[in-house]
Amino acid sequence: MNPDWNRAAQQCVERCRVLANYTEEPGWTTRTYLSKPMHEVHRTLAEWLAPCGCEVHIDAAGNFRAVRGVADAPRLVIGSHLDTVIHAGAFDGILGVVMGVAFLESLGTHELPFALELNGFSEEEGVRFGVPFLGSRAVTGDLDDRAIALMSGPIREFGLNAGDLPLARLRPPITGYLEFHIEQGPVLEQLGLPLGIVEAIAGQTRLEVRFEGRAAHAGTTPPRLRKDPLAGAAEWMVEVEREMRETPGLVATVGRIHAEPGAPNVIPSVATLSLDVRHAIDSIRHGAARRLADAAERIAGTRCLRVHMETRSDLAATPMDSGFVSLLEDAVRAAGFPAHRMPSGAGHDAMILAKHFPTAMLFVPSPGGLSHCPEESVREEDVAAGLASGAEFLRLLERRYA
Ligand code: GLV
Ligand code: MN
Ligand code: MN
Repeated sequence: MNPDWNRAAQQCVERCRVLANYTEEPGWTTRTYLSKPMHEVHRTLAEWLAPCGCEVHIDAAGNFRAVRGVADAPRLVIGSHLDTVIHAGAFDGILGVVMGVAFLESLGTHELPFALELNGFSEEEGVRFGVPFLGSRAVTGDLDDRAIALMSGPIREFGLNAGDLPLARLRPPITGYLEFHIEQGPVLEQLGLPLGIVEAIAGQTRLEVRFEGRAAHAGTTPPRLRKDPLAGAAEWMVEVEREMRETPGLVATVGRIHAEPGAPNVIPSVATLSLDVRHAIDSIRHGAARRLADAAERIAGTRCLRVHMETRSDLAATPMDSGFVSLLEDAVRAAGFPAHRMPSGAGHDAMILAKHFPTAMLFVPSPGGLSHCPEESVREEDVAAGLASGAEFLRLLERRYA
């Protein structure tokens, strides 16, 4: 097991660019949960893995699963997600999956004392329903009835059967979960480091906020007779930004806003917004979300609007497993790189897996700190460092089983 990781890294980058072409919107990379182009991603991954002797299947949640080794052997799971944000880059999520393909390819005929499973999760971003992590929650058995109801139609349309969702669960014994991902921020680049070992992932709350007013004529309705929910939403967004600036470590984002009926000469009747709030400390995040909910009520009250808020997701800050993190640190050092520990502000499937199995994550730098945009990129030499470290991780784990 000693392939040329530079060549493999080059191939990983090329493969990410190939998969970026499978999109719902020509000219951009947009691939939401179980959208049609996901079929082509699955087919391409299966083709790449064909020589590797894996059992490949798509589970009922639409996750791509490839298993090498005996079914009931202890299993190391490597994975990340296949869905993207709207107008995404080519590397968020996908890089971790194609690095998993590279590990499976690198093994050749080498027998590991544990099974290796690659998971390409179908949904992490939460773009389609505002609810993230549907793919990883299916494999850990964490889907609630509401999530299953949201997923069932798309599952059927994709040619799968929601009744089989219980079969998607990872069955013990699971040795652990390892995720490779781009950092999506500027820290590693600023430190001049090729790799970052994630210690913990910030908690996140996602809300849908709906201001309701009254549609009316834009040309004839005087200011005092207006019940304009979009103006109320705008006032509330300024509050969101103020809360973020006044709370150290807090990030709060309105990423989506929709006005109905949405015509230039009609005062809207409804404005719907998404809110994403994150902090490393859960009590601070919850406090901020509560204050922002109070602000929405107050603004609605002064403008004669109604406001409804629905929590779409609430995930606690998640530490990685100390034993797995130490093993990853040893692996990174054994591969000849500095072992730098860091938190993750971005959410990852590892947050879901970590509740059930020993979990660790390795970051490669994002040039310019850019992610969730078409300019997102990676450097091949950093991917090669990640691959070499991952190979050391497998080797160290193998020794544990010896
Ligand atoms: C995932 O990319 C997230 O942090 O929203
Ligand atoms: Mn991601
Ligand atoms: Mn993302």
